[in-house]
Amino acid sequence: MRFARHLQHLLAILLCSFATACAVGSGDEQSGAIARGQALAESQCAQCHAIGPTGLSPYPAAPLWRELAETKDTDELAQMFGEGKLIHRDGTLSMPEYMLTPQQIGELVAYMKTLRAS
Ligand code: HEC
Repeated sequence: MRFARHLQHLLAILLCSFATACAVGSGDEQSGAIARGQALAESQCAQCHAIGPTGLSPYPAAPLWRELAETKDTDELAQMFGEGKLIHRDGTLSMPEYMLTPQQIGELVAYMKTLRAS
């Protein structure tokens, strides 16, 4: 019995350290995650993508993030941001291969969700 409770506790800690659900919980945590996601997007993604609620992509072939936000659900967004999917292949611009941490991915998704109209 004791052991089981220990295990449960351990599991909860493990889940919390990995799941974005804990990292981007509520209130301050949530707005902190959004702000970090936005900062990351501004520093690494905005030179090609329109990352805000208005405007066109500086690099026209790059999709508008607000459109991605409308057409993809949270899981799909997280998946796209995950490693492997972000090797942009484009004839004109050579792209760095992004290696985003799960935390950064959670933050980008949190930010992108703010672009949704509803
Ligand atoms: C040098 C320009 C450039 C930069 C910088 C850039 N992108 Fe892109 N991105 C593109 C282009 C072009 C496309 C569309 C063609 C492609 O996927 O290669 C694209 C497509 C995407 C897609 C859609 C992929 C899909 O499967 O539909 C996502 C998501 C994305 N970018 C996220 C990011 C994120 C996150 C960053 C910053 C960490 C970033 N991009 C930085 C040019 C860029």
